[in-house]
Amino acid sequence: MAIDTHTHISDERFDGDRDEVIKRYRSAGVETIFEILCEQKLWDKGFELAKTKDIWTAFAIHPHEAKTATNADFEKLKKIICSDKCIAVGETGLDYHYNLSPQNEQKDVFRKQIEISIDAKKPIIVHCREAYKDTLEILRDYSFECGGVIHSFEGSFMEAKTFIDMGFVIGICSAITFKKSGDLKEVVSRIDGSKILAETDCPYRSPQKFRGQRSEPAFVVEVIKEIANIKNISYLEAETMTTQNAIKLFL
Ligand code: NI
Repeated sequence: MAIDTHTHISDERFDGDRDEVIKRYRSAGVETIFEILCEQKLWDKGFELAKTKDIWTAFAIHPHEAKTATNADFEKLKKIICSDKCIAVGETGLDYHYNLSPQNEQKDVFRKQIEISIDAKKPIIVHCREAYKDTLEILRDYSFECGGVIHSFEGSFMEAKTFIDMGFVIGICSAITFKKSGDLKEVVSRIDGSKILAETDCPYRSPQKFRGQRSEPAFVVEVIKEIANIKNISYLEAETMTTQNAIKLFL
């Protein structure tokens, strides 16, 4: 069975048919999803979703929201990440593509959350968009005994290798199925299979087959198929490999 290691089904785009979406991933052979709650206003929705047996959660403040983060938010985060079905702090990091929060505030909020994850002994889910250098500089200041993932990775093989050498695994999203997937296919082909997680990051970025549609957890099957193609292994092997990697890091 597959795991979608990065979903946002608490997004309002799922408000009309969330139960159907959950049914569809189950029938597609996805046994578990990791729901990422990275806007403070969505945290409560995360507790509701966590009541569903096959949904685990991660909580954080996204770099887009960094400018809105308050001390009360950090205090609340410290408490909620210790809850039973919370597997990680995430996603947190730096986004210099959109720069929706000033970069110095993004960095500060990222560091605070790294420290929260280390204190709570939970892995971290890192968002790094067009901010490789600064992300690396911050991560190098800490040691991550519980590990973490660089999610929706979009960098080069050398960047992936640097993160892996620091103890992180690499989250591969639907972009791997695109005709224009940049360096991603090379990254998947060259890194060790034990360092790969499969994710949709739904509702964002649908796989090639469903381009233009809202993405959903069932589509993680397309990501795993492409990983299998590139690694020249069967679907079942790729599914087992990515599921085991996810269990090892988070469960
Ligand atoms: Ni995400």
